[in-house]
Amino acid sequence: MMDGVAIAALLLLCAYILHKVRHMHLLVHALRDDTRQGQAVLFRQLEALQGLYISLGLRRALPWTRGWAASPDFLQELAAHALDEKPRCVVECSSGISTLVLARCMQLNGAGKVYSLEHDPVYARRTRRLLEQHGLAAWAAVIDAPLTPQCFGASSQPWYDSAALPPGMAIDMLVIDGPPQSVAEAARYPAGPVLFPRLSAGAMVFLDDAGRPGERAALERWAREFPELECASLPCEKGAAALRYKPAA
Ligand SMILES: C[S@@+](CC[C@H](N)C(=O)[O-])C[C@H]1O[C@@H](n2cnc3c(N)ncnc32)[C@H](O)[C@@H]1O
Repeated sequence: MMDGVAIAALLLLCAYILHKVRHMHLLVHALRDDTRQGQAVLFRQLEALQGLYISLGLRRALPWTRGWAASPDFLQELAAHALDEKPRCVVECSSGISTLVLARCMQLNGAGKVYSLEHDPVYARRTRRLLEQHGLAAWAAVIDAPLTPQCFGASSQPWYDSAALPPGMAIDMLVIDGPPQSVAEAARYPAGPVLFPRLSAGAMVFLDDAGRPGERAALERWAREFPELECASLPCEKGAAALRYKPAA
């Protein structure tokens, strides 16, 4: 009888140990996959950053990228487009390192201007100082644009007071990297109704953080409301989308 109990206990112990070993095995594999993926993402950002320094021929270091700032892969997409297609009028929702990169592209192109809407006066001042330090102040204007509640369809949400944008101008390139997601559920949706009607034919819109639910919701609404914009996703770490404005002939 005792033998039977001892054998059962031993079997139970073996099953428990096997279960734990299997759990650890799966954990080690998951850890290995995460590490490989993390290294790949990091390597891609380093390549993009190096590419940016080469394409922009910078003599001063850029401020920190990633986190609140745009990531190198997204900045590289912006620079590649701005240098290839030479947009004359670039509008940006939120300022920072992206303003600096775009202003440098305008300088290299020898034409064009960036208009950057910034709701926070502290960051507006910071970006202006950055532009001055890099000798780029003539190529970009940081516009103080407080977020004010505005009506979009049946609902209201905060959006930049874009009254300071030069009236009547046609936008060739639009970069949407603000306002922050804490402002509203689909904080960047209003860029559609407010700014898409001002796009020139063939203009390109870039949306950062397109992997987040709020930005995905904005993209879905834009697809329904602005079918003349063709959307493609960009392989950027935070998710990004590029929308080409192709008005019906
Ligand atoms: C996603 S950030 C914009 C980043 C900008 N496009 C760039 O490339 O640097 C959106 C807004 O967050 C604010 N912001 C920027 N850095 C921040 C920080 N470290 N902490 C809190 N807010 C920040 C600024 O007002 C900015 O307009």
